[in-house]
Amino acid sequence: KKLLLLDVDCGVDDAQAMMMALAAPNVQILGITCCHGNTTIDNVCRNVLRVLKVCRGTEIPVFRGACRSLLGQTLNASDYHGKDGLGDVPDPNSPGLEHVQTEHAVNAMIRIVTEHTGQISLVAVGPLTNVALAIKMDPTFSTKLKHLYIMGGNMEGRGNTTICGEFNFVSDPEAASIVLNQFACPIYIATWEYTKRHFLPWGFFHEWINQGTEKACFMKAITENSVKRMKIKQSDKEVHRREGFVSCDSFAVAAAIDGSVVTEYMQCGVSVELQGELTRGMMVLDTLNLQKKQNRAFIMVKCDLEKLKQLMMSALK
Ligand code: BDR
Ligand code: CA
Repeated sequence: KKLLLLDVDCGVDDAQAMMMALAAPNVQILGITCCHGNTTIDNVCRNVLRVLKVCRGTEIPVFRGACRSLLGQTLNASDYHGKDGLGDVPDPNSPGLEHVQTEHAVNAMIRIVTEHTGQISLVAVGPLTNVALAIKMDPTFSTKLKHLYIMGGNMEGRGNTTICGEFNFVSDPEAASIVLNQFACPIYIATWEYTKRHFLPWGFFHEWINQGTEKACFMKAITENSVKRMKIKQSDKEVHRREGFVSCDSFAVAAAIDGSVVTEYMQCGVSVELQGELTRGMMVLDTLNLQKKQNRAFIMVKCDLEKLKQLMMSALK
């Protein structure tokens, strides 16, 4: 089985990505580490526990990680994911935070990766604060990983949070920069533009959430508000603002579960702009290899959407 460690800021698409990994028969999840991001760290932990409960995965340990970015600015994405980060659906039976491990997420990451040296793929789908701290606390951390999969950054200078910055990178630019500059294992990146380009038709989305299973009902409930928020009025009718539905974090998990989901990569040096007035947090690709970086990341370019759809469908069975 493939051994995965998931680092999440559990919003709606993190939940979708987690559910995909939890349902994959060829995968064993060794732990889920929580990071600030879409919502507060407590909400993130609670949301992870809720997802694990629905998926009967409560034996997987959950760890509380960084509650702020390295320089302390705190963003959230409640506009899209809701105040609680998971669509603001009341859940009276939500598991309590006492189910979160006492070990800090960064210590847990280092310990688990050391125990399984060379075998773990780390999938990071939130701000990279925990991963950057792990590298700083243990400089050999990344040499002990098999792969690192990231959802974050951008490849064509388009943003979703600032003009040209993607949420996870803009939430902690220094952490993203540390990770991209100091990583020793292969890195695979699903950028904002990659995920947006591979939207799924609304017809598929409705089929997906209406499978009638407990997991599908949960998905239907947590996506309702965010899908509503993406609608606009056009001549008295509510229409989707976007052509289709995008599950950003699922792209990173799908690539880790089944490498053939990504049909084209571009390998190049990557950096994060830390200074720019308009561009802070933007990922910059060195397609000409001018910086002569040793660790050139694999940027996902094309995705086999049919395979992605199959993984998503199975996740809610
Ligand atoms: C990323 O930002 C978050 O809101 C999503 O969970 C995803 O990880 C997309 O930019
Ligand atoms: Ca996320």
